[in-house]
Amino acid sequence: MAQNWTPDGWKAHEARHLPHYEDADELAQAEETLASYPPLVFAGEARALKADLAEVAAGHAFLLQGGDCAESFAEFHPNNIRDTFRVLLQMAVVMTFASKRPVVKVGRMAGQFAKPRSSPTETQGDLTLPSYFGDNINGIDFDPEQRRNDPMRMVRAYSQAAATLNLLRAFAGGGYANLRQVHQWTLDFMGRTPWAEKFAETADRIGEALDFMEACGVDPATVPQLQGTSFYTSHEGLLLPYEQALTRQDSLTGDWYATSAHMLWIGDRTRFDGSAHVEFARGIGNPLGMKCGPSLAPDDLLRMLDTLNPGREPGRMTLISRFGHDKVEEGLPPLVRAVEREGHPVVWSCDPMHGNVVKSDSGYKTRPFDRILKEVKGFFAVHRAEGTHPGGIHIEMTGQDVTECVGGAVAITDDALGDRYHTHCDPRLNAAQSLELAFLIAEMLNDEIGERRADAA
Ligand code: PEP
Ligand code: CO
Repeated sequence: MAQNWTPDGWKAHEARHLPHYEDADELAQAEETLASYPPLVFAGEARALKADLAEVAAGHAFLLQGGDCAESFAEFHPNNIRDTFRVLLQMAVVMTFASKRPVVKVGRMAGQFAKPRSSPTETQGDLTLPSYFGDNINGIDFDPEQRRNDPMRMVRAYSQAAATLNLLRAFAGGGYANLRQVHQWTLDFMGRTPWAEKFAETADRIGEALDFMEACGVDPATVPQLQGTSFYTSHEGLLLPYEQALTRQDSLTGDWYATSAHMLWIGDRTRFDGSAHVEFARGIGNPLGMKCGPSLAPDDLLRMLDTLNPGREPGRMTLISRFGHDKVEEGLPPLVRAVEREGHPVVWSCDPMHGNVVKSDSGYKTRPFDRILKEVKGFFAVHRAEGTHPGGIHIEMTGQDVTECVGGAVAITDDALGDRYHTHCDPRLNAAQSLELAFLIAEMLNDEIGERRADAA
């Protein structure tokens, strides 16, 4: 257990990107309500994810983490949850099939609401209002009442997270994720993409493998791994009053766990020496992510790792690099070398989204698919050169047919961005672009494994 740590100890540290609530009584009431509610996840599940991530750190598995940039109250719908879950499963199947390695599936779902913003205020014409910080804090519409920080939004976010998680658990364990269903997962609009056919081919081959196993006496109906899957949840642990209210002591071990999700990560803007977010995270037993951007020096990273994982527990730390397509090959190697030199067991994951945002000619914030792909390729190249495992991918995506990122085989153009641009924050890959990325990563994983075999021979 962490030394000298309490769930509210973060309050004595520097907290950036936290909302100011005008009414302290209202905040206390919301926190009390949350503290009296059931945990969303159980500590044993967080430990199971940590064990799965330890396998990734050891090079035996791959991490797929994805979902909305920001979940919203407006887009809360069972079909949206199902479609994002389905695309993540499709991606995982493609990557597992190519690499013959397990894929650990973690959604940016069921709690990913709060957003750090570059400016605390937004001005339109003569009016300046607080920025939009995510639906668990204030509303997206540019009007004074909506933009007020309302603590009761945390309670609504909890309820949405609970219902989302409930459906995800049902899908993961109730038959939807059965490997016999892989054909059914193809979405209608995928018929228009080259990837639908490729996915159908993979699905056929999986079907043949299952037929073969059945003929050998392995009945998929009785093998739990074929009937369902493990699916975990995660979000940025940004809104500390919410996280603290849902932090509980595990009855089995006495350790503290954030029970709002299986995994929390620390954002690129809140991982600094003396940070309240780092202080909070160091005391919870969950697996942790930390974003690593261009401003992170190797020594700072090592200090963070010593603070967050002094026991060097494998699976505890996932380092999510987000440099940008033109900076990853220069910026990542010094971090990888420092971590290797000190022997910290980490999962290296690639977020190819947050370093690749551009403003399109039409005025939309977008991410060109070719830059996303280039950052992923750079990430794999760095790990190949350093002899380390490119362990995972962290993406902002949705199962919907949105038009937010330009490019890909579906060829979303700048002019088309306005057609279905629905995100509450950053632009997401749509279903077809996500699957395309999965096939391209599958090829890279295949190469990585081929090289490792060649080295071992
Ligand atoms: C995010 O993942 O939504 C995010 C804000 O990322 P970062 O902290 O890397 O900027
Ligand atoms: Co984002």
